[in-house]
Amino acid sequence: MAKLASSFFIPLATVFLLFSSSLAATKTTRFSRIMSPLSLGLGKEKLSHLHFYFHDIVSGPKPSAVRVAAAGMTNSSPTGFGAVVMMDDPLTARPELNSTLVGRAQGIYASASQEEAGFLMVLNFAFAEGKYNGSNLSVLGRNTVLTTMREMPIVGGSGAFRFARGYAQASTHTFDPKTGDAIVEYNVYVFHY
Ligand SMILES: *[C@@H]1O[C@H](CO)[C@@H](O)[C@H](O)[C@H]1NC(C)=O
Ligand SMILES: *[C@@H]1O[C@H](CO)[C@@H](O)[C@H](O)[C@H]1NC(C)=O
Ligand SMILES: *[C@@H]1O[C@H](CO)[C@@H](O)[C@H](O)[C@H]1NC(C)=O
Repeated sequence: MAKLASSFFIPLATVFLLFSSSLAATKTTRFSRIMSPLSLGLGKEKLSHLHFYFHDIVSGPKPSAVRVAAAGMTNSSPTGFGAVVMMDDPLTARPELNSTLVGRAQGIYASASQEEAGFLMVLNFAFAEGKYNGSNLSVLGRNTVLTTMREMPIVGGSGAFRFARGYAQASTHTFDPKTGDAIVEYNVYVFHY
């Protein structure tokens, strides 16, 4: 009986010791803590709608998007599979390039589909106008550019867009098949504080 009891209590005691020592470690290192959202000045979450036009200029003497890498097979692939393009595309309030500049789309699009025109989009919208001047939103999504409406997740942001989450809807406004230049209309819906 005594033997049974001790074999039962030793593991329990061990578990308790391990648990209490990990509690002590949490207290002393302060690696993480729970805090009130109010202490960061976070009030009520808001939903904002942003509307702008994205200018992807690949032709001419001053392109805003340039191919930086490709695979050996990219040029023979019907979808340009493997092409990687770096962009610093202007975002404007109206479809005309000379309308108010509201920001820039900076990042990468890369052909990631062998079946259809489908790009991996990894970019930041860096805003330069109004109350969002200086704030950024980050996009990580799939863009099948020949589809009428594409949707890409907004995965985060900075400045006014800290804790952002939402989605961007893109639809091609104009595409010039001779130059490859495109103007894309964006509607962005984003929750933030
Ligand atoms: C802006 O560009 C359009 C053509 O896209 C042109 O018709 C218009 O005159 C330009 N406006 C200004 C203010 O330069
Ligand atoms: C945006 O902010 C920058 C830096 O603070 C400033 O230089 C610029 O004039 C601002 N732009 C607008 C349109 O308010
Ligand atoms: C937004 O991105 C710009 C670069 O475009 C950066 O300089 C700036 O610090 C970012 N804004 C915030 C509020 O983090």
